[in-house]
Amino acid sequence: MSLLTLSGVAGGYGDVDIVTGINMHVDAREIVTIAGTNGAGKSTLIKAVMGYLPRLSGRIEFDGHDLRSLSTEKRAGIGISYVPQVRNIFSTLTVLENLQVVEKVADSRKRIAEMFDMFPALASRRRTQAGNLSGGERQQLAFARALMSSPRLILLDEPSAALSPALTELVFAEVRKLPATGAAVLMVEQRARQALAFSDRGYILDSGKIVLTDTGSALLANEKMAELYLGSKPVEPVQAS
Ligand SMILES: Nc1ncnc2c1ncn2[C@@H]1O[C@H](COP(=O)(O)OP(=O)(O)O)[C@@H](O)[C@H]1O
Ligand SMILES: [Mg+2]
Repeated sequence: MSLLTLSGVAGGYGDVDIVTGINMHVDAREIVTIAGTNGAGKSTLIKAVMGYLPRLSGRIEFDGHDLRSLSTEKRAGIGISYVPQVRNIFSTLTVLENLQVVEKVADSRKRIAEMFDMFPALASRRRTQAGNLSGGERQQLAFARALMSSPRLILLDEPSAALSPALTELVFAEVRKLPATGAAVLMVEQRARQALAFSDRGYILDSGKIVLTDTGSALLANEKMAELYLGSKPVEPVQAS
């Protein structure tokens, strides 16, 4: 049985369905990427799982729980974490305080120590106000906050947004480590080719519908679809002769 299963999910913010007929699953310790054009409904789908959509139909199950009957808070309590597209860190608190204020962590001190082991850049800036962190450090702090509760599923909405290529590599390297911590990842990414290269599976969303799903490598090998939905292929550097 999958960790997360969406069956016939539809929903949106007003009268119009933004996403429709969504069937999707995430297995334990899997990395799954949702790709697709701007406005396709990727963030909407992630929000549906966390309970942030005003209107929703269909079934969403997580580890035997009917998610729709649970509040967002309860969803977090059973092991789902969410890093929204607009980051939720407290810029007036220090790095350390940002971790301390995460609720419902069994042994907060121990977990903070583990987070600092995992993110050494944060450890050395523990007394720094989060508002003074670099873009990459903010990303790491948002991750660390989401990981404090040792989630079994982490929802990441564009973790590389607004980051330089070098920082993107760094953040993706952190994402790749998550399954080893016991977490499955459901992630939305604009840098879809890069993300699919290390994803177990992917879903391509177009106008609120899933138009294709396959393993990460199979999606990348499908040239026509890749060009349509994943942007043009990066140009290979020309070797000077
Ligand atoms: N809070 C909101 N209220 C009303 N419409 C929204 C809201 N958020 C997103 N939408 C609309 O839903 C559609 C899908 O948006 P979104 O899920 O953010 O797309 P994506 O993440 O794939 O770029 C867009 O047409 C967008 O305008
Ligand atoms: Mg989005």
